[in-house]
Amino acid sequence: MPPVEKEKTRAVGGNQVRSLDLSGHVGFDSLPDQLVTKSVQNGFTFNIMCIGETGLGKSTLMDSLFNTNFESSQSPHNLSVVKLKAHTYELQESNVKLKLTLCDTVGYGDQINKEDSFKAIVDYIDTQFENYLQEELKIKRSLSAYHDTRIHACVYFICPTGHGLKSLDLVCMKKLQSKVNIIPVIAKADTISKTELIKFKQRILAELNSNGVQIYHFPTDDTTVAETNQAMNAHIPFAVVGSTDFVKVGNKMARAREYPWGTVQGEWRSGTVIENENHCDFVKLREMLIRTNMEDLRDTTHTKHYELYRQARLEKMGFSDVGPDNKPVNFQETYETKRSEHLDEMQQKEDQMRQMFVQRVKEKETELKEAEKQLQQRFDKMKREHGEEKRRVEEERRQLEEEIAEFHRRKAAHMAGSGTLTLGKKKK
Ligand code: GTP
Ligand code: MG
Repeated sequence: MPPVEKEKTRAVGGNQVRSLDLSGHVGFDSLPDQLVTKSVQNGFTFNIMCIGETGLGKSTLMDSLFNTNFESSQSPHNLSVVKLKAHTYELQESNVKLKLTLCDTVGYGDQINKEDSFKAIVDYIDTQFENYLQEELKIKRSLSAYHDTRIHACVYFICPTGHGLKSLDLVCMKKLQSKVNIIPVIAKADTISKTELIKFKQRILAELNSNGVQIYHFPTDDTTVAETNQAMNAHIPFAVVGSTDFVKVGNKMARAREYPWGTVQGEWRSGTVIENENHCDFVKLREMLIRTNMEDLRDTTHTKHYELYRQARLEKMGFSDVGPDNKPVNFQETYETKRSEHLDEMQQKEDQMRQMFVQRVKEKETELKEAEKQLQQRFDKMKREHGEEKRRVEEERRQLEEEIAEFHRRKAAHMAGSGTLTLGKKKK
């Protein structure tokens, strides 16, 4: 007789779910392995956005993080607006393929009026969400082949002033906090002293807190990484140093920054080995961003930030999970309601436009009539003036003719008078 299965019953979402014990190995415990194999075959995507003023060491840090040369070029610093520049690279480590997109903010903070600096960044992030949403809404979706360009991590480079955050930093981070995982870092941390750095970090955290800026914190709910992540959260914002130069440290070549000033020994040149945890937090950033929490960053982007965007967009389109009576509505109903609303709106707009057209025609007609009246008045006036002028000229002509006639008459009389006189003289 087969062993009797022990039955346990549990209610899940209103349904009764029974738990059964198996009498032998079936094999579905290999599901996680199948998932890993499939994911490795498909490869992964990871997208980083670097926000920071021109020349703060963004490209150098990316080269250092991925230990490669992304061959980026220097950005101009006289642009009138901030531009976003994205490049995608295929990387492979062991058998894991990573499609990495690095997005750079060109000209960030260079404008005299910095009010709109964040706009281009917000637009870029929203566009990537929108593209993904459009793909999701397609009838023939191909999300597995889709190149996901949503930003998973936004590394925000803080200028190493030692004073605090600039208003641009606060405004920008505040605008982005609900859209992306913000990881603030202190750039070129080798340019401030250790004691200054401690105070600087405290000041930055205090300013972020007092302005209610939400940054990304490494998750502490997974017990395997909770301790490390908790410890690392205490080091935020990471003070980072990047370098493309290598120097010999012991018997290994290491990325480091050498400085031109020497010490008392004259020959010895001081420097920062970026992978030395006593020198800076570069290793901490790499551990947290790439080795430990890459999947959490990807997951948070999809389940938190994209979800917010998607929800807002679908609500704007008129979709809703429940109707006014709090009952679930189906897609067909929503579509019909939205369609009739749209048709009503179109009809209203058409009526408005027709009324506006009639009104415009009336106005134009009145305008034309007024212009015609004025023209007629001017014509009449000119005609009157012309008639009077004509009469005046006629009168002058008549007077002139009379004067001419008078002149001729007088001339003739004069001629006649002088002729009589001559004849009379001769007779004498
Ligand atoms: P744009 O893309 O042109 O805005 O610059 P960027 O932010 O990518 O800076 P980039 O990495 O090109 O570095 C600019 C200069 O700063 C270079 O001369 C780097 O060598 C130097 N630099 C980069 N990282 C550091 C750092 O951590 N410390 C110091 N002191 N200099 C650095
Ligand atoms: Mg650069």
